[in-house]
Amino acid sequence: VITVDIRAPSRSYPVLVGAGAIAALGEVVPRGARRAAIVTQPGIDIEVDPGIEHATFMLGSGERAKSLQSVEELCGAWSRWGLTRADTVVAVGGGVVTDTAGFAAAVYHRGVAVVHVATTLLGMVDAAIGGKTGVNLAEGKNLVGAFWQPHAVVCDTDALATLPPREMRSGMGEMAKYHFLTGRDLLTLELDERVAACARIKGDVIAADETEDPANVRGRATLNYGHTLAHALETAGHYDLRHGEAVAIGLSFAAALAARVGRIDHDRVDAHRRVLGAYDLPIELPPGSSTAELVELMSRDKKAIDGLTLVLDGPGGVEVVRGIDPTIVAATLDELTWGS
Ligand SMILES: NC(=O)c1ccc[n+]([C@@H]2O[C@H](COP(=O)([O-])OP(=O)(O)OC[C@H]3O[C@@H](n4cnc5c(N)ncnc54)[C@H](O)[C@@H]3O)[C@@H](O)[C@H]2O)c1
Ligand SMILES: [Zn+2]
Repeated sequence: VITVDIRAPSRSYPVLVGAGAIAALGEVVPRGARRAAIVTQPGIDIEVDPGIEHATFMLGSGERAKSLQSVEELCGAWSRWGLTRADTVVAVGGGVVTDTAGFAAAVYHRGVAVVHVATTLLGMVDAAIGGKTGVNLAEGKNLVGAFWQPHAVVCDTDALATLPPREMRSGMGEMAKYHFLTGRDLLTLELDERVAACARIKGDVIAADETEDPANVRGRATLNYGHTLAHALETAGHYDLRHGEAVAIGLSFAAALAARVGRIDHDRVDAHRRVLGAYDLPIELPPGSSTAELVELMSRDKKAIDGLTLVLDGPGGVEVVRGIDPTIVAATLDELTWGS
């Protein structure tokens, strides 16, 4: 088992990565906790033993379960069970479980410890690490949340054996983004090492910019590499794409756009395509995409006059770039649609 230390300014904690890592759960549960509220979903049949008195609380599945209603239900059930501020929550699942249970933990008694047991690849390399927690509103995804760092994260790669292939691919889309945040070739690593490497990269970003300072163009916002188009594709709602698949298309688009504006050369674009191809991820827009709709969704909340804000690769690495001309964005999307 590989241990990656995350040194966020608000809390330092270990991420345990490897086959069988779950056996160490009892060692990373906060000392002093007498009870553990385990939060998971039906269909995730992973036995966890926190080594203290525990009970299991079920969450629904999908984005609909990431709601304020779920938070209210969890907090109510924890209270009836007798969970105190000195105890701990253990979230066992993918991003839906860790985001929702993490946020409920952040607000229950103004904050109770949480340990994340990530059971999806996306959770292991991204959602469970870094302390962003939250839920959706009818008005949009992740609109309500809190920064609440976990006390530990367990990434038992044995859990991936039961993960549906589509979910595995989705995690690989998120994994692909880390290839471009550093110069390292992660493809040469075996899975456990690669998951650990991703955790380390995210940890380093968070150590430097825990709460995503809007003025820090090379900070936490770079973790949104590939995400502006991905969110537009997801918001449009009529594409059959998992989050990581949308991110993969977003990365392919971001590379093409960066080349178009002269920030990177074609070798670097090819490097993006090579990594996405190695993960068998999509690099073109889905059939029937509307450039006008996607540009409109990408520029939402921003005055069109200022241009678009995107995370782009460049000579100094990946960074936030403002004021991008929407016509260049549209031309890049058209190129991506035609698959040229
Ligand atoms: N907080 C963050 O920093 C962050 C980062 C990225 C994504 N997210 C959030 O994460 C969510 C997506 O997470 P996800 O992709 O893990 O999806 P998910 O949590 O919905 O999990 C996908 C499906 O796989 C099932 N599942 C989970 N583990 C399994 C296992 N081991 N075996 C079989 N089935 C299993 C789940 O029950 C679910 O049906 C989104 O809501 C997104 O906003 C958060
Ligand atoms: Zn993402």
